[in-house]
Amino acid sequence: MSENYQGGYHRWQIRLHWLTLILLVIVYATIELRTMAARGSLPGRILTGTHMSCGVLILTVMVIRLALRCVFKSPQITPRLHWLNKVVSWLGQCALYLLFIGLPVMGITSRYLHGIPWQLFGIPMPQSPHPDVMLSREIIRWHEIIALSGYWLIGLHAMAALAHQFLREDNALQNMLPRRWRKTD
Ligand code: HEM
Ligand code: HEM
Repeated sequence: MSENYQGGYHRWQIRLHWLTLILLVIVYATIELRTMAARGSLPGRILTGTHMSCGVLILTVMVIRLALRCVFKSPQITPRLHWLNKVVSWLGQCALYLLFIGLPVMGITSRYLHGIPWQLFGIPMPQSPHPDVMLSREIIRWHEIIALSGYWLIGLHAMAALAHQFLREDNALQNMLPRRWRKTD
């Protein structure tokens, strides 16, 4: 923790935070829309391909964000939070990191083990020399179950942000907004 950004999160933390949201909308939307396309059809393959490629981008962004978080000290929230509130918010943020690093890792592992060719951004990806279809299916089953908790977690996180802004009237949301969008009074 080398630097403390008094004026909010570091600009790269802010950019990557909102980029994660955009990528997550694409990842969830493509997989929901895919149910409307016939399995194996061109639209179905494009939607699943986009899901997987954007999922890998989320993994990359989340790992970079974790590294940035270790480098830059998180800004203070004023008025100060009760310690219990701090613990809950920290646990929520840990869960977000765990979920959105864990899910893509599960997705990649499942595709690697599945034994059929797969691609990211149109580039063929390696496959296991010893495919295990049963394990691959089991991993993707858990991937699907766990992914659903993402809706809840993001929803709770966004609601907490709104509660900070409109009920508690502190600077938590301001800290995560680009400098030019912040209130200056
Ligand atoms: C943060 C990233 C990700 C999220 C939030 C996510 C979420 C989801 C969701 C919600 C589903 C569908 C659940 C359902 O049908 O009920 C799903 C299915 C799936 N995901 Fe992901 N996923 C992510 C990353 C990945 C990655 C990186 C891969 C592979 C490289 C992947 C491969 C798959 C596959 C193969 C399916 C099943 C598709 C099918 O049934 O045709 N996912 N994912
Ligand atoms: C839906 C809109 C969202 C809003 C309004 C929102 C708002 C916020 C706010 C105000 C903070 C600062 C909290 C603090 O300083 O204690 C924050 C931090 C954070 N948000 Fe969000 N967020 C949203 C979506 C997401 C999504 C989709 C993720 C998924 C990973 C996410 C992950 C995080 C994490 C991990 C932090 C902690 C700071 C960091 O390590 O970068 N947020 N968010």
